[in-house]
Amino acid sequence: MVAAMDISVTKAERSKLQDLNLDNLPFGRYFSDHMLEADYENGEWKNIEIKPYQPLLLSPSLAALHYGQAIFEGIKAYKDKEGNAFIFRPRDNYRRFNISAERMEMPSVPEYLFIEGMRRLVELDKNWIPSREDHSLYIRPFMFSSDELIGVRPSDNYKFMIILSPTGPYYAAPMRIYVEEKYVRAAPGGVGYAKAAGNYGAAMLATAEAKRKGYDQVLWTDAFEHKYVQEIGTMNVFFIIGNTAITPDLEQGTILDGVTRQSAITLLKEMGLTVEERPLNIDDIMDAYKAGLLHEVFGTGTAATISLIRELRYKDFVMKFDVDKWKTAPVLKTWLNDIRERRREDKYGWMWKV
Ligand code: COI
Repeated sequence: MVAAMDISVTKAERSKLQDLNLDNLPFGRYFSDHMLEADYENGEWKNIEIKPYQPLLLSPSLAALHYGQAIFEGIKAYKDKEGNAFIFRPRDNYRRFNISAERMEMPSVPEYLFIEGMRRLVELDKNWIPSREDHSLYIRPFMFSSDELIGVRPSDNYKFMIILSPTGPYYAAPMRIYVEEKYVRAAPGGVGYAKAAGNYGAAMLATAEAKRKGYDQVLWTDAFEHKYVQEIGTMNVFFIIGNTAITPDLEQGTILDGVTRQSAITLLKEMGLTVEERPLNIDDIMDAYKAGLLHEVFGTGTAATISLIRELRYKDFVMKFDVDKWKTAPVLKTWLNDIRERRREDKYGWMWKV
């Protein structure tokens, strides 16, 4: 049961939409007219408001700024030919949000606030959903601790917010990936499975070093041997070896349980591939490449959707791929886009009508 809560709505006097150049929508740079804001105080959620997008006034002693109790989600809204708005699998992101909250000792967010708040916000700003291929309205729910106190302890107060950003493709071209074996993203017992803001901050040095070497992103490996692959910067990862799609399993709690990852597993099976979720060693990946059996490598993520990987480098060994010859990942991407843009039957019930 979803308990109703009051959501007050104040509309913007003027829409910024006419100032937006829809031909140039880099990821995450522009924001729609409204945002949702709610406060957790004295053990309950209150002050739930949808209001014009605006800056926050925050104390310099805000706990989140010092100790990083902050989590977020990434979700996308699409529009069909008739202009109806749909959100892709929002309940899966809602579930993961509260898993992240639990790991970070933060309060859970009620379904009504997250789902109904998102629905009302997207409905209000649905003109911001771009209709172009590969474009969508990116939904960013997030929560942070808001005590004004620099003592190290879980906050008593939190803010939950949702903002919306019209966006084009995150990675426009096939990617070059550097297999990371110096820095670590996650170890068992850590926060790797949570969408904690600090996971992304902690990844920036490794990513910047890979970029300086000419790579787009890093592929993280396990903390002990730097052998077992985990995930790529902003995406889960899949390898097609023979007729099997292999993606690292979630057992160790070191990678994100991606909603696009789950969707890719379902669609790859529908395409007739065997899908294995299991530990995968970089040596086995290289052996498969040398034997001509490593056919495709790609990433999956909300922002990234399905991103093809044209080069993978481990130490001095470079694996290159001719993505134009690929048979699986491009089809997977088309199927997913077709479901999202309502050109293909939504047989798994992934599209949630706003
Ligand atoms: C997403 O895919 O939604 C992400 O959160 C990844 C990144 C943009 C932080």
